Amino acid sequence: MDAAIDELLASLTESRRVHSLAVGRRLESVAHMLPEHLRQDAITAAYLHDVGYGYPVTGFHPIDGANFLESLGYSPVVCHAVAFHSASVVEADVRGLDLAAFDRFKATNVDALDTVDAFVWWADMTTGPNGELLTVDERLDEILSRYEPGSTVHTAISRAEPLIRTMVQRASGSM
Ligand SMILES: [Fe+2]
Repeated sequence: MDAAIDELLASLTESRRVHSLAVGRRLESVAHMLPEHLRQDAITAAYLHDVGYGYPVTGFHPIDGANFLESLGYSPVVCHAVAFHSASVVEADVRGLDLAAFDRFKATNVDALDTVDAFVWWADMTTGPNGELLTVDERLDEILSRYEPGSTVHTAISRAEPLIRTMVQRASGSM
């Protein structure tokens, strides 16, 4: 991990920083299974997927993070993976946000971009809030227990569960 990433993560709470470092390391451990041209960006996105919590503008961290990283010159692949991580579109929809905020991060001309997404989702959804290794079941339970039933995140994760499982399975199936 480079110094720039470390510096950006310093803006997060200790728990989010520890989680982010663990997600980045987890992606690093499987990055050799990704197409070579996407490895570094996938690792960077994994480390920085939650950076938007440290630089809030809209208050929706996947888009705040992607906009912030774009302004720093990070690649379209990194910004895409951060914007779309772990069913962020479902949460945006539950929040009633304008989904057009995602448009600039679609980066559809990149080969195997969906594999990068699957790997980042897998790393995030198998890593706990303190960096511990979890199964996807444990991780979903952990999130659902941290947020009140009826809250935005609880509703979003409940709705996104099948999609999250599909993406996690897609990643583990290609490892
Ligand atoms: Fe996140």
